[in-house]
Amino acid sequence: MKSIFKPFFAVAAVSLLLASCGGPTTKKSGNSGALSGNAAEKVYIAPGEHDSHYAFISGGFSGQLSVYGLPSGRLFRVIPVFSQDPEKGYGYSEETKPMLMTSHGFIPWGDSHHPDISQTNGSVDGRWVFINENNTPRIARISLETFETEEIIEIPNSAGNHSSSYVTENSEYVVAGTRFAIPFPQRDMPINEMKGNFSGALSFLKIDPESGHMNIDFQIKMPGFNYDKAHPGRNASSDWFFFTTYNTEEAHTLMEVNASQNDKDYIAAINWKKVSEYVANGGGEMQAANYAHNTWDNDAHQATTVMEKEVLVVNPMDIPGAFYFLPTAKSPHGCDVDPSGEYIVGSGKLAATMTIHSFSKMLKAIEDKAFDGDAYGIPIINFEAVSYGTLDQPGLGPLHTEFDSRGNAYTTFFISSEVVKWNIKDLKIIDRHSVYYSVGHLMIPGGNSRTPDDKYLIALNKITKDRYLPTGPEVCQSAQLFDISGEKMELLLDFPTIGEPHYAAGIAAEKIKDKSVKLYDLEDNTHPYAAKSEAEAKVVRIGNEVHISMTMIRSHFAPDNIEGVKVGDKVFFHVTNLEQDYDVPHGISMIGAQTSELLIMPGRTTTFTWEPKQVGVWPFYCTDFCSALHQEMQGYVRVSPADSKLPITYTLDDEIPGAEEEL
Ligand code: CUA
Repeated sequence: MKSIFKPFFAVAAVSLLLASCGGPTTKKSGNSGALSGNAAEKVYIAPGEHDSHYAFISGGFSGQLSVYGLPSGRLFRVIPVFSQDPEKGYGYSEETKPMLMTSHGFIPWGDSHHPDISQTNGSVDGRWVFINENNTPRIARISLETFETEEIIEIPNSAGNHSSSYVTENSEYVVAGTRFAIPFPQRDMPINEMKGNFSGALSFLKIDPESGHMNIDFQIKMPGFNYDKAHPGRNASSDWFFFTTYNTEEAHTLMEVNASQNDKDYIAAINWKKVSEYVANGGGEMQAANYAHNTWDNDAHQATTVMEKEVLVVNPMDIPGAFYFLPTAKSPHGCDVDPSGEYIVGSGKLAATMTIHSFSKMLKAIEDKAFDGDAYGIPIINFEAVSYGTLDQPGLGPLHTEFDSRGNAYTTFFISSEVVKWNIKDLKIIDRHSVYYSVGHLMIPGGNSRTPDDKYLIALNKITKDRYLPTGPEVCQSAQLFDISGEKMELLLDFPTIGEPHYAAGIAAEKIKDKSVKLYDLEDNTHPYAAKSEAEAKVVRIGNEVHISMTMIRSHFAPDNIEGVKVGDKVFFHVTNLEQDYDVPHGISMIGAQTSELLIMPGRTTTFTWEPKQVGVWPFYCTDFCSALHQEMQGYVRVSPADSKLPITYTLDDEIPGAEEEL
């Protein structure tokens, strides 16, 4: 049992060492985190003024993506992605339910992790945000015109979809990698026969440059290691993709010990351009698979699910010169490439050093065949031949690094709760600042692209303890905003976040705000049950199904009186918001409906179902305070006994809706 505690001893030793040389230098007493006098001014956005940046912050285990303004830290919107959202009806309405379909059936929850904004020529372009779901492997694409999830694709042969979702510098691909090695394809086999029999799938999803639609172009069947984090190359290295690995021991139990035996694991370097050309020329093998591909149709206002049945699988051995392993300090987590594309930073979370590889040295080493053997046939490049250098004892528990445009790197340290700024070229530490507490990721807008927009940095903290008013056993998680325009990092603001702020992506507001959709054009609405005017409203019985095509406009529904519904019926409310005005959604909900309300945008048609259980006259009403007569926006449905012969009738002001218009 002795060996179990080994890694912790190692960490404790480093901890003592650091403490003896003073440790973090900017730690000050009190809760303020040493705010300077003008910090408030720097984050103050006067009423009616706009923030300069959008921050898209992952909701972690909430499964969603939230939209904040920087520098104010104000929350604007929660975009539902992988979890049902009763506030908006996402995952509850008939139209959005298919977005949450998978090969395991309907999944109402997800664990969102890493948002990444699409890029053009190595700069974030503000068209889409991609984000991965960790638990039931999926990648989602969110439109930055509608701020809605438009597509979710399940990733087969993967588990713990963590080294995802990262975009190449012209948005050719969004990439997903499996965190857990698993049988590929899945099969029934003894767990302790894992070694050599499991694989690690790395998936490359091609992005249509016009529509953004994704499809899995190929999956690479890598050795059965855990693929933790990933980063595409930039500039000179833009044809390559880098993935950190751990558990190269291929242990199957007590991983905290058994997956920490090797002094070094690897960063996998993959020439995706070569692989892409190989498959374009007919390479790879089509294999049976089963995964859901869900797409949202913005005109029909509904999602559809297609179950895909095969995937193109690539064996690294078939493409010589495209796959290498770079030895990297023990169990690396973060894998980050600087804007020049030359420096590849591996954060050895259990090591006292950080490994920085050189891309140009890597190419030279490949040319010189400076290899130290191979792993499952993939050459391992000699450490000295590829290493640019190491950052010794920069802090405790290095996790992630982002970059500014001035040659500086910023690394988070989970255990010592700090952000450390260092120079990439001379590997000298420039500044360090405590964060409160236990920081995971950090984000500089565009900080993982070729062109960081580097005034601000946010630290995404896992624990806040005493930073906020207590709210029972759990205190909010939070982000901390720093001004990084000077030599020293300046802490400006703490702000709470939704769920776990796992990672984030940021962009200048002007790249998005003028494209933001204001309403959906009624004329483009092709929903089969849309009623585009009150004259088109109707109620139709088909067996025990009742389909209501209803309209809503300030401040009534049409129809608003419906009779002839019976106990045992299934009633479909297909509701169209006739408004053609910015920021005028209406809501609707029905007493006893076993679903959420609907929040319906101008021009959109959305459906919920209701199965009345009791005879009576039951009201429905608008749930969104839309006008001075919002309280009057209501209607009634009469429910008769199951054996009633009462025919369906529907009226507005005691007439068939639209009757007056026709006169
Ligand atoms: Cu419509 Cu309130």
